[in-house]
Amino acid sequence: MKKLVVLSGAGISAESGIKTFREMGGLWETYDVMEVASPQAWERDPELVLDFYNSRRKQLLECEPNKGHLGIAELEKYFNVEIVTQNVDDLHERAGSTKVLHLHGELKKVRSTYDPGLVYELDGWELKLGDKCELGYQLRPHIVWFGEDVPKIQDAIRIFEDADICAVIGTSLNVYPAARLLAYLPKGTPVYLIDPNETMIRQTDNVVFINEKAGTGVAKMKDLLLGKEN
Ligand code: APR
Repeated sequence: MKKLVVLSGAGISAESGIKTFREMGGLWETYDVMEVASPQAWERDPELVLDFYNSRRKQLLECEPNKGHLGIAELEKYFNVEIVTQNVDDLHERAGSTKVLHLHGELKKVRSTYDPGLVYELDGWELKLGDKCELGYQLRPHIVWFGEDVPKIQDAIRIFEDADICAVIGTSLNVYPAARLLAYLPKGTPVYLIDPNETMIRQTDNVVFINEKAGTGVAKMKDLLLGKEN
């Protein structure tokens, strides 16, 4: 089976009701990143940071995977699909995808502020000051904040290095190192880019632009991949 590598971003979860970051009305229009998603914010006002992630976690409980997630999961019938997502929601997994690498962390997980190797599934949606790890240290969101290292980037690079096909779905490619992953694709790898808006992508050879939302764009990509061009 050919290896299909998917790089997904907030746009694939938009039709599930989850806000993207950089569009009109996006999350970063409502919140100042440096106030809620950085180590400095955690030092300055941990409760504001906890509230920010608690509200996103609570919202996620009401969201379902959309046709975009489900379509990618279904492609596992035809391809060895590996997803590298920038999203912290679990909608790819809930849609049935079996190989999902979260580059920027996972909303439903928390970790020790003392030992980052101590990671826990959060029971419920609320993490509070005073919630501690087994060693007695405060728990924090298991999220890669701005300015922090991206521990899984080498694993992600290895996934891209032997891709046969790549799909880029719902990401503005604004954030590094995620956006640089495309540079690790073998030369000439076909790339399918699904986004209703124009996206800045460095390489333009071998890119098929599908200017649609993920829900319909993934179905269109599937037809193209399976040679069922309409
Ligand atoms: N289907 C597909 N794409 C969509 C849809 C949709 N229904 N709606 C919006 N988009 C596209 C937008 O056009 C945009 O290109 O999704 C992209 C969302 O871009 P961003 O909001 O920048 O989100 P993302 O690229 O995932 O951000 C990367 O930045 O803030 C950090 O850690 C955060 O993981 C995030 C990273």
